[in-house]
Amino acid sequence: MAKKEQWGSRIGFLLSAVGSAVGLGNIWRFPYQAYENGGGAFLIPYFIAALTAGIPLIIFEFAIGHRMRSSLPTIFQRLSKRRGYRNWEWIGWFQPLLAIFIATFYAVILSWVFYYIGLSFTNGWGSNCETFFFDEFLQTSSSPFAFGQINPVILILTALIWFLIWIIVFRGIRKGIELAGKIFMPVLAVLMLILMFHQIFQPGAAIGLDALFKPDFRRLTDINLWIRAYGQVFFSMSLGVGTMITYASYLPKESDIVNNAFLTGLLDCAFSLISGIMIFATLGSMALMQNASIQDVVQGGPSLTFVTIPQVLNRMPASHIFGPLFFVSLAIAGLSSIISLIEPLLSAMIERLKISRKQGVTVICLAGFVFSTLFTFRSGILTLDIADFFSSNFGMLTGGLSELILVCWILKPDFLADHANLTSDFKVGTFWKLCVSFLTPVILFIILAMNISQAFAPAGENYGGYSFTELFVFGWLMMGILIILSLIIQNLSSRRTQEMIRHIWEEITPRDKGEI
Ligand code: PHE
Repeated sequence: MAKKEQWGSRIGFLLSAVGSAVGLGNIWRFPYQAYENGGGAFLIPYFIAALTAGIPLIIFEFAIGHRMRSSLPTIFQRLSKRRGYRNWEWIGWFQPLLAIFIATFYAVILSWVFYYIGLSFTNGWGSNCETFFFDEFLQTSSSPFAFGQINPVILILTALIWFLIWIIVFRGIRKGIELAGKIFMPVLAVLMLILMFHQIFQPGAAIGLDALFKPDFRRLTDINLWIRAYGQVFFSMSLGVGTMITYASYLPKESDIVNNAFLTGLLDCAFSLISGIMIFATLGSMALMQNASIQDVVQGGPSLTFVTIPQVLNRMPASHIFGPLFFVSLAIAGLSSIISLIEPLLSAMIERLKISRKQGVTVICLAGFVFSTLFTFRSGILTLDIADFFSSNFGMLTGGLSELILVCWILKPDFLADHANLTSDFKVGTFWKLCVSFLTPVILFIILAMNISQAFAPAGENYGGYSFTELFVFGWLMMGILIILSLIIQNLSSRRTQEMIRHIWEEITPRDKGEI
């Protein structure tokens, strides 16, 4: 077997893992989640989720990848065999397939970002940013089912993004992903800090920061706040989709698991806070300019970045510098994340199908692009909103919960703790075990149960005000297909099925004359 690729250096691995974690989730998603869920009220569940689920799970996933050093299906198959249990290989297919599903809409959001980079040099969105974004650019239709036509600009830019992914991943771990991390992350950090410091010194910034940091303890009883916070942490820290496990499987034998995991988690939180501060300070200065409250001037939801930021840029003297800086930061952050979504399935294909990285990445990028077109129609932003909600609040949580159940409840996590401690200066102990084997699984379980029961809530109380059918088709059905597909692949790759297929094949193919 070809020797497994490895990272070239510790810093290279760290920057790539941070590159995966820090993405649209931090700059595009975190601020609007915080905004929609009460600003300061959101930060408390967010930090609790980051400390009790996020960082412990990064340690957990790094330790699995480093210990098992294979692709996901093999890891979960081997783990379940340790005790002769049923085969849980399906988790190892579900997570990579979910990652690719996420990549398909992530690429489309990135295509909007690329378009906005172009516009930002001249504030090309005009004076009415909302009309521009929804009506002129996306030409958004009235419902997720009203597809309308494909938007050719978005289609071309999405193709460009898949092409960029292809180039980076094609070059391999060291020369592709690691190099991208080493260039992208420092540049991103500098850009974001410049933007943040510039924004917090604008008049009115304090109004926004007040909204972000003032806790509202009364809202903590709202279970939805907790659901969103856990979903956000999973999405932002790239958990439950096999990315962190796969990245760690390329680590050399002597690598510090716990330290690297802490750094990755903390840096991810830091980037979210920096962009939260930057965006909320901006919202505050906008509120001051219009002499209104933040709630009155801001467009919530996924369009916060694409409507409110351009509105602010329109009023900013140096907008031709700060606009491109902002959208380029988003693009860099997004690119380094999207490449990490490809790796879990790619490494599984290389290992199981014995194909080369180049063949694998070509197939994945082509298929990914074709699937991405689903989100380039006029209904794109609506279908994408549902797909994003279900991927993080259902898919990633299910991916995370099933790996925790297998490792912590069926196998006991001690072997992972021992492995992590063997390699690390900072040791994990009772608190970590408590988090991964009790606290997080129980919370994930409750959240999933809540999500499922909410699916049957009366119309109007559903997520985003979508109808049951819309949520069913673009959410539950997609998730269901991914789970069923994983079970089918698990079955197809089992030895019994393969023997059966070989048998049937031999039966139906004509034999050599000599044998008759
Ligand atoms: N963490 C990335 C972000 O914040 C998204 C992502 C999720 C990347 C899962 C890889 C795996 O944008």
